Amino acid sequence: MSLRKILREKYSIGEKELSAVRRSFEIIGNVVVIDIPDEVYHLKDEIVKAILEKHKHVKTVLRKVGEVSGDYRVASYEVIYGGETETVVKEHGCRFLLDPTKVYYSVKLSGERERIFRLVKPGERVLVMFAGVGPFAITIAKNAEPGEVVGVELNPKAVEYFRKNVKLNRVEDVVKVYEGDVREVVPKLEGKFDRILMPSPNNAQDFADVAALKAKKGSYIHYYTFAGVEEEKDLPGRVESLFSPYIKCRVVFVRRCGNFAPYVHRYVVDLLVE
Ligand SMILES: C[S@@+](CC[C@H](N)C(=O)[O-])C[C@H]1O[C@@H](n2cnc3c(N)ncnc32)[C@H](O)[C@@H]1O
Repeated sequence: MSLRKILREKYSIGEKELSAVRRSFEIIGNVVVIDIPDEVYHLKDEIVKAILEKHKHVKTVLRKVGEVSGDYRVASYEVIYGGETETVVKEHGCRFLLDPTKVYYSVKLSGERERIFRLVKPGERVLVMFAGVGPFAITIAKNAEPGEVVGVELNPKAVEYFRKNVKLNRVEDVVKVYEGDVREVVPKLEGKFDRILMPSPNNAQDFADVAALKAKKGSYIHYYTFAGVEEEKDLPGRVESLFSPYIKCRVVFVRRCGNFAPYVHRYVVDLLVE
């Protein structure tokens, strides 16, 4: 039964108010993140009860009060039920310990992570820039057979969880974690990579030169960006031009992999270095 249906049938909430209640929310382990508009804030207790009825394992409900922002890409939240915000998320046979109030993590990228780990060939050396708590790096290490996966992350709290998650998933032999700014850390890494991920759609465009430094002929670069639907057809050309001052590469694949705002999506653009 949907959240709206529970609110309508069990709590007799009228249609006008129901239409302001968001249909969807994100479940991160046993923490729920929901956007409750001001005009239906007075229904928060009923909304929490309806969520708990459907998802009995939920321990904490967070209301999103500010958009994902800043270098660390973390939103602001108000606790409307429970209190413990640290949780464990299961994804593709891996477990990720994290606190969504301190680090970025999106359940919605799980399909994209699967697409990527299925592309990784045995022995590949993979670089994950903007690695967060490690979901791309660790799902690759667990589900493919890379030679090495290197993750670089700026937010100290995300790095702390990333290191814990490497241990939790027993991938210490394959995954190496570096704390710091990609611009500082990546140039110092030894050698080149077969695959480079840039999963930071708001600022990846500022790091094309850094990625190019570590790519070689035959490498793949997975570049993430936000774009409006009207920009979609120009995206391959735009991304090739972004990299062209540094490296010769061509776009081999583009797809939407999430929403950002009405008519604005997250896109992944795969480039092959020539
Ligand atoms: C959109 S999040 C993606 C995190 C992770 N890849 C995931 O999918 O969950 C972008 C991440 O890049 C990190 N970040 C932002 N600028 C950075 C930089 N210059 N160097 C390294 N990490 C950076 C942020 O702290 C954040 O964790």
